[in-house]
Amino acid sequence: MHYEVVIIGGGAAGLMCAAVAGQRGRRVLVIEHANRVGKKILMSGGGRCNFTNLHTTPAHYLCANPHFCKSALARYQPADFIALVDRHGIAWHEKERGQLFCDESSKQIVRLLLDECALGSVRIEVNCSVQSVSQQGAGFVLDTTLGRIEADSLVIASGGLSIPSMGASGFGYQLARQFGHTVLPTRAGLVPLTLSGTHLEHYAPLAGLSTAAAVRCGARSFEGGLLFTHRGISGPAVLQISSYWQPRDELLIDWLPQQDALEFLQAQQAAHPLAELRTVLSGVLPSRLAQTLCALKLGSKPLRQYRERELRELAAQLQAWPIIASGSEGYRTAEVTLGGVDTHELSSSTMVSKRVENLYFIGEVMDVTGHLGGFNFQWAWACAQAAGAVV
Ligand code: FDA
Repeated sequence: MHYEVVIIGGGAAGLMCAAVAGQRGRRVLVIEHANRVGKKILMSGGGRCNFTNLHTTPAHYLCANPHFCKSALARYQPADFIALVDRHGIAWHEKERGQLFCDESSKQIVRLLLDECALGSVRIEVNCSVQSVSQQGAGFVLDTTLGRIEADSLVIASGGLSIPSMGASGFGYQLARQFGHTVLPTRAGLVPLTLSGTHLEHYAPLAGLSTAAAVRCGARSFEGGLLFTHRGISGPAVLQISSYWQPRDELLIDWLPQQDALEFLQAQQAAHPLAELRTVLSGVLPSRLAQTLCALKLGSKPLRQYRERELRELAAQLQAWPIIASGSEGYRTAEVTLGGVDTHELSSSTMVSKRVENLYFIGEVMDVTGHLGGFNFQWAWACAQAAGAVV
């Protein structure tokens, strides 16, 4: 079998690239080792796929080569994917902060991609494994469970390591190394963090409780929900900061992200001098959390008994509460994989390898990782479009 373009991986990036190349008249084959394509799309956004973010900028991505994603993102924007979604009659809504979701189901996004692939006469093979890949002239030969397949161009779209049960594999990294590419160290991102020892003892009783917070790690801070779990902490603010967190980094939690804690305490002292700190905090925080913070560190007495200096100390503690995470839940639950194929060795306008002619890497297998909120799919669409237009 001979194809002009073979794409390994039928996820978001692979299907998008296949559709674009197929519609240009290229003979395209997608090889997917799982029993169906787009599994991560199906489970994304709680089943409604947060398919893009209106506010996408290069600043929403982590990459060792910070300018790399600019070109592709500029050439394929959220409005372009929205136009595609609209053409397919898929109803959508903005949830918050520019995050767009399907009104009905993420199945509609997989359907969209499959319909676009069909328009380009793309052949898709599921349950197909690639045993080996070698170069043949300017092209490639693949040994697969379907037999020998020749390809003029090869696109690696096999994703990262997160959620192995959904088909994730280290295949793309192995192949990149085989062809002389540098693979930057990988680790789980957008992942719940775990606590241990006394930290876990202190906070595990709060499991299930969520609150608004801002979570800081070094110079980075994210505001959003924080959820206590049986193993540690999660929720959007924690998932976001997890991509920047390294073992032994201290997290500083602001429990009152929307207000100045000192002004709040001073106003409460003036208005309710006899009220206990614990009671006053229960007015702005979940009561069990307020009790825990008072029991662990803040103490509690009637507000009139606090001097100005003590109020300042309380405010500082409420806005920079240290929590030491012991680790993360790892790839089992991570939404993304940080690190991957070094983008210094790829063209930022086409995603083609600078080392091997006609070899492309797209999607999560590369060292480009978005923040939470639709940015990862937008990157998948944009880089796939860039490769699909030339492959
Ligand atoms: P993706 O992982 O989608 O596809 C890779 C494909 O390659 C898979 O189908 C895999 O089975 C296949 N494959 C792997 N090894 C292979 C091999 N050896 N041979 C053949 N095939 C192989 N992002 C976002 O923007 N909004 C959201 O709402 C969410 N939600 C979300 C929820 C959950 C639970 C997860 C785990 C992730 C998200 N994400 C997200 C992240 C998003 O899913 C991710 O960034 C994209 O799917 C990446 O697209 P890729 O095509 O690069 O990889």
